[in-house]
Amino acid sequence: MIQKYRYGNPFDTEAIITSMETAEGDPAVGSISLSEGFTFSYTMADADIVYGLGESNRGINKRGYRYVSHCADDPNHTEDKVSLYGAHNFIIISGKTHVGFFFDYPGDLCFDIGYTRQSLLTVSCADADLFLYVITGTSAYDVTKQFRSVIGRSYIPPKFAFGFGQSRWGYRTAEDFRTVVTKYRNEHLPIDMLYMDIDYMDAYKDFTVNPEEFPDFPAFVAEMQAQKIHLVPIIDAGVKIEDGYDIYEEGKKGGYFCKREDGTDFAAAVWPGMTHFPDVLNPDAREWFGSKYDVLLSAGIDGFWNDMNEPAIFYSEESIAELDTFLQDYLDGKVEGTQPHWILGTQLGALANNPADYRRFYHNINGQQVRHDTVHNLFGYNMTRAAGEAFARLAPDKRILMFSRSSYIGMHRYGGIWTGDNKSWWSHLLLNLKQLPSLNMCGFLYVGADLGGFGCDTTRDLALRWLALGVFTPLMRNHTAIGTREQEYYQFEDIADFRHLLGVRYRLIPYLYSEYMKAALGNDLYFKPLGFVYPDDAIARETEDQLLLGNEIMIAPVYTQNASGRYVYLPEEMMFVKFLPDGSISTEILPQGVHYVKIALNEVPLFIRKGRCIPVADAAESVPEIDSSTIQMLGYEDAAYERYDDDGVTPPEI
Ligand code: GLC
Repeated sequence: MIQKYRYGNPFDTEAIITSMETAEGDPAVGSISLSEGFTFSYTMADADIVYGLGESNRGINKRGYRYVSHCADDPNHTEDKVSLYGAHNFIIISGKTHVGFFFDYPGDLCFDIGYTRQSLLTVSCADADLFLYVITGTSAYDVTKQFRSVIGRSYIPPKFAFGFGQSRWGYRTAEDFRTVVTKYRNEHLPIDMLYMDIDYMDAYKDFTVNPEEFPDFPAFVAEMQAQKIHLVPIIDAGVKIEDGYDIYEEGKKGGYFCKREDGTDFAAAVWPGMTHFPDVLNPDAREWFGSKYDVLLSAGIDGFWNDMNEPAIFYSEESIAELDTFLQDYLDGKVEGTQPHWILGTQLGALANNPADYRRFYHNINGQQVRHDTVHNLFGYNMTRAAGEAFARLAPDKRILMFSRSSYIGMHRYGGIWTGDNKSWWSHLLLNLKQLPSLNMCGFLYVGADLGGFGCDTTRDLALRWLALGVFTPLMRNHTAIGTREQEYYQFEDIADFRHLLGVRYRLIPYLYSEYMKAALGNDLYFKPLGFVYPDDAIARETEDQLLLGNEIMIAPVYTQNASGRYVYLPEEMMFVKFLPDGSISTEILPQGVHYVKIALNEVPLFIRKGRCIPVADAAESVPEIDSSTIQMLGYEDAAYERYDDDGVTPPEI
């Protein structure tokens, strides 16, 4: 059962699409205080697990820490961080009873989940203007499915987007892109997508391409398509301020940019230098910005990634002026206090993504000025919605690949997400695994991390182990930062190992796609924590390094260096399957309990649940080359599997 409560004058985020009556009074569970902003308190039982929070730090069970929903451009995802790029305000408290809460509030929201006091959950925000949804159910899984049924269907990408994609910040010239494709194809490393980071643009201007490098861009797109490669360009939030640049001129003329209180366009520096932010919370501006994707769609592009849409700010005109004054004072010896030199360093570090800047600009929503910080978490959502709504107008017969960095619940209807700037750290491989089911609970099904790690230099073994997890994530992309070690899979020793792992992905696509579509069409999860399926099994409830994928398999990747295998917990008898480097598949029935399983760097393990089977095809080098006539069933004898399939292009009926 779902009940909706209203406090104050909430902003309509459109996260929930089912209309519901507002209940009288306060929820029967927990307590509400409106004395200082809004605070919800709830006493947790010792055995309660707290699930949810989508893209957030730490474990699947969120207990014992605090989290702040504030879409943040922070590339250092260390254990102490309380905010990442998404704001997904749905949690479930699951023990003897099962209750979910969705706090539909677009500003900063703090979750203290047994951090201050171990049994106390508090959720608080500065303004008591929000909708609170309370969902009671028979299990955490049941609560999740009820929540998913009111937020609308998850985004469905084209089938090619289940292939592998290569990316690197730094590919600039047509030759750079050609080289990558040639190496992948010559080495028979399967691939379907090549991502274009900011350097494809003309001076980092959205919806432009560098005219010197790509004098005939549609021809370049076609050249790639002839090699079964989809180019996927990045689009950033900030529109460069440059006289004569059509997008800038149109935005200025139409009043489509976010404004300061005095009505002038707010200016902030991002990659292109000074930019304006399109006011994607304003329906007219959203329609205008969305229509610009046509510049690339009409060149043959069928996929995009939206970035820097928290929105990220390197500095603003105001903050740089303030810094300038401070520097003058510092040089003149006028800075008060005992630590002027330290203060100088802090001032410099605080320039980017400064909360003061988020209070300096406004959205124009139905004629009302809304200060950005009060709706901060809706920016990435609405930038991606701009694109999604435009695709439905511009390419109604086609699915377009779309994923975003920043998000709020509601955006899951328009695109997927990638989890931003991780690092080539083993701990981030594990974080990637743990984020997956939480993201699914919040509706984000098309998800994945930068495989191999974005920041820092990767190692061959980390690249392989991370790829063995990426084999299962709907979005499967190797991406890395400029200046890091080259990370395309042909850069490493013994390329055959990478070829094999990529090949396993393509062998599994008939199953992975089928399970994705079943999850999307049925408001279900693609990745589930073990506790969702084995709620009475205390060990399963605590297991955070294994996941169920779809209804048939469990995955248990290796995430430590120099390990030749790992311990795995089987809540029931399962078939342990390994895809071996010679193309064969080993199977072994293992009884319920704890096992140490050997898994070499060039093997992909999975576990088939008792009595089930999955379809497996022969390896292919691109999604259209997967030959469904080669599909065989792998798993328990006499088991049956109903495979979902479609053309992978036509958008399914709503
Ligand atoms: C941001 C993105 C990253 C991209 C870089 C350059 O850091 O998160 O993926 O490579 O910007 O565009």
